[in-house]
This record gives sequence, C-alpha cells and structure tokens, in this order.
Amino acid sequence: MTQQRDIVVAMTGASGTMYALRLVQTLLAANRSLHLIVSDAARQVAVQEHDTDLPRTGADADGWASAVRAVMASERAREWGFGENSLELKGSVQTPGLKDFSSGAASGSYLTDGMVICPCSLGTLAAVSSGQSSNLIHRAADVHLKERRKLILVPRETPLGLIALENMTRVTQAGAVVLPAMPGFYHQPRSIADLVDFVTGRICDQLSVPHTLFQRWSEPE
Ligand SMILES: Cc1cc2nc3c(=O)[nH]c(=O)nc-3n(C[C@H](O)[C@H](O)[C@H](O)COP(=O)(O)O)c2cc1C
Repeated sequence: MTQQRDIVVAMTGASGTMYALRLVQTLLAANRSLHLIVSDAARQVAVQEHDTDLPRTGADADGWASAVRAVMASERAREWGFGENSLELKGSVQTPGLKDFSSGAASGSYLTDGMVICPCSLGTLAAVSSGQSSNLIHRAADVHLKERRKLILVPRETPLGLIALENMTRVTQAGAVVLPAMPGFYHQPRSIADLVDFVTGRICDQLSVPHTLFQRWSEPE
C-alpha cells in the first residue's frame, strides 16, 4: 500500500460552504491528514449560509470536527436531508493562516496527495490562473501546479463570463482539474444532501479517496 500523504483543502468565498464541510467530514472519516486554509470571504459566506464562524487559524482536528458536527446537526442541514451524523472523524488537521508562507503547503518539497479549492471563488480562480501568490491558498495552488500534483478547483458562479471561462481554460492547460459545483440529476436525488454529496463524491473520486456518497451509474441498489 502506498503511503498516504496530507491533502490541502482551501475554502474560498464562493457560495457552497456545505460542499467544503461535507468534504472535510468525509476526508476526516477516511482518516486523512488535512491542511485547511480558509479565506476571509469564505468565513463571511459561512456566516451567511450557516450562521457559523469557521474555526480560526491554529484550530486542530477536534475544533474542526465539532464545527462540522454542529453544522451537520443544525435544523437547516436536517431540512436539507442530512441524517444522523454518525461518521467517526479520525484524521488530523493543521490550520495555517492565510499569510503563513512558512507552512508546508507553501513548499514544493513538502509532498502531498493533492489540493482542493472548494468552493473556489472566481477571484481565487483568477489569482491561480495568473500565478499570483499573494496568500497561502494561491501559493499552495501554484506549488501543486509546478510540481505537477493534483489540483482540483470547484468554482461556483452563474452565468460565467469570458474572463472566468478563459481562466478555467488556462488552469486546465496548466494541469488543474476544474470540477464545477454542478450536481447531476441522473442518480435521482431526493434531497439537497444528495446534490451536495454528488459534488463531494466527485471531488473524492479525483483524490482517489473511497466513499459511498452516491450510488454510481449502473451500480445495483
Ligand atoms: C454571501 C456571498 C456569496 C458569494 N458567492 C460567490 C460565488 O458564488 N462565486 C464567486 O466567485 N464569488 C462569490 N462571492 C464573492 C467573493 O466572496 C469575493 O469575490 C471575494 O473577494 C473572494 O475572495 P477569496 O477568493 O479570497 O475568498 C460571494 C460573496 C458573499 C459575501
């Protein structure tokens, strides 16, 4: 079995905090070690969408696990169809600050199994596509591209203008995977939770992390 390395998960200020929380929950349940980097705008969106303050810089796995559990146990999450939160969260978490350029994620010599920006704002997409490194999210993304490691961007915006489309083309040409928060309906979702889990599961597929978040096409029930 190959050695499992850390995964970098960045949250930025696009709508869809729940995608990120469900991803963090799934990766921690899979016993993965995470570097969680959160932009200021992502914190604003989390307050808007879930009335929640995301854990601060330096928070550990317990802090993140309890934040994820609190959102998952909220009335809104129940209305959306998320059930009992029975997943045991076993992985570990580092939460470097946005300007912590001495963090492992900022260096190419620190090996990882990849990076996900979920959700990815169009602002962060633009920064990644133009090679800016003005915060740790941009720098870590640039490192993943230059090291030819997996970088997954999960943008959410509609409609899309030419600049965003060109930026998506550019990061794809540089080796990133653009995985829009764009759930399918062919698996006959019954709830918002099913839609969230479809996108989250597709991200896990890209990271080669096993999951049971949705039923695969042609898979028997
Ligand atoms: C409630 C809320 C929802 C937002 N939704 C989106 C969105 O879906 N997509 C997007 O690209 N930007 C969205 N924005 C704007 C970004 O947060 C803004 O461009 C910010 O500068 C992004 O910064 P960041 O990339 O450092 O997180 C939203 C902002 C707020 C406050």
